[in-house]
Amino acid sequence: MSKLSRRNFLKGSGLLAAGGVLPMSLIELAFADPRQNFNFAYISDSHIQHIKGKEFVRNWDRGLMRAVAETNLLDPKPDFVLYGGDIAQLGTKPEIDHGLELLSALRYPVRYALGEHDYYLDLGEYWESQLGPQYYSFDHKGVHFVVLNSILTYDEWTNKWPTPEQRMAVMAGLDNPNGSPFMVGEAQRAWMADDLAKVAKTTPVVVLSHSPLQKIFRNWNFWTEDAEQVQALLAPFDKVTVLYGHVHQIQYNQIGNISFNSAMATAWPWPYPRSYAQAPSHMPKLTVPMNRADPFFERDATGWQFIDLHSGNIDLHYALYDNPNRVVAFNAQSGRPEDTAFQDPATRVPAQMHY
Ligand SMILES: [Fe+2]
Ligand SMILES: [Fe+2]
Repeated sequence: MSKLSRRNFLKGSGLLAAGGVLPMSLIELAFADPRQNFNFAYISDSHIQHIKGKEFVRNWDRGLMRAVAETNLLDPKPDFVLYGGDIAQLGTKPEIDHGLELLSALRYPVRYALGEHDYYLDLGEYWESQLGPQYYSFDHKGVHFVVLNSILTYDEWTNKWPTPEQRMAVMAGLDNPNGSPFMVGEAQRAWMADDLAKVAKTTPVVVLSHSPLQKIFRNWNFWTEDAEQVQALLAPFDKVTVLYGHVHQIQYNQIGNISFNSAMATAWPWPYPRSYAQAPSHMPKLTVPMNRADPFFERDATGWQFIDLHSGNIDLHYALYDNPNRVVAFNAQSGRPEDTAFQDPATRVPAQMHY
């Protein structure tokens, strides 16, 4: 990253941080040739929820409106915005339409990924009619982006429900035992192999996926059933980053050559699986959880991140509402991301416990 662009960004972010929460990410890619540097922003998990008529849940509306307004104020300006999925809560036309209406205020091009809340009512039909193919790739200034639909599941499960509404309701419940694990699926993996075959191994690859492309906690679908197969497709590349939504909390991990980082939701935080007494720990060992993530506080554990993918390695700067800011930076010596303050167990603040 050039000194100039960092200074400009920090100047802008200081102003925004003073304003409070910015539930989105600004990501800078930096290369040896500074003319190639660019930024993109990342917004995820707005869960726009229809009540009736023209009424929508105000809190979720406000989270997205704020992200959009503050994204428009960014300096430097992002080249584009990635949207990480779950625009809607129950996948209905009014929810998708209202979410897209709020997002239409963005002054940048937007690239969308599907979340399960957008998908399981009509299997992505309306979403696709408004936004195009459910998975695709594109190139931007020397970086190859792959956008996946990673929330597919077994056909037997998808087809077994008497009504689409019942299917949607079950998949929308995070811990519903009648849900089914997410996956990318064979057809899409074949497409991905084909797509990546045309990309030089030295080209940085950024994958946008709604579910984590790793296996964290199946009961909450912090999970991708064919994660290993997808990771194998990415293994030959020098620099690979997976950005994912869905988990509404800080997570990071390193598997082989792949760095994984989650983004916050604009809607609400999920607690960590380990904060529930009945669930054994199911987090990437590397992740130091947020020291406070209480879903009963309206804006707690939402926040914003500046992500510097300098030379393909990730540094995340989390600005968190009512929480100490955190920096998760790639440690070149250990070859993995680490929290610069809390990685050492002696410095951690215990996670909040729920029943
Ligand atoms: Fe979500
Ligand atoms: Fe989700």
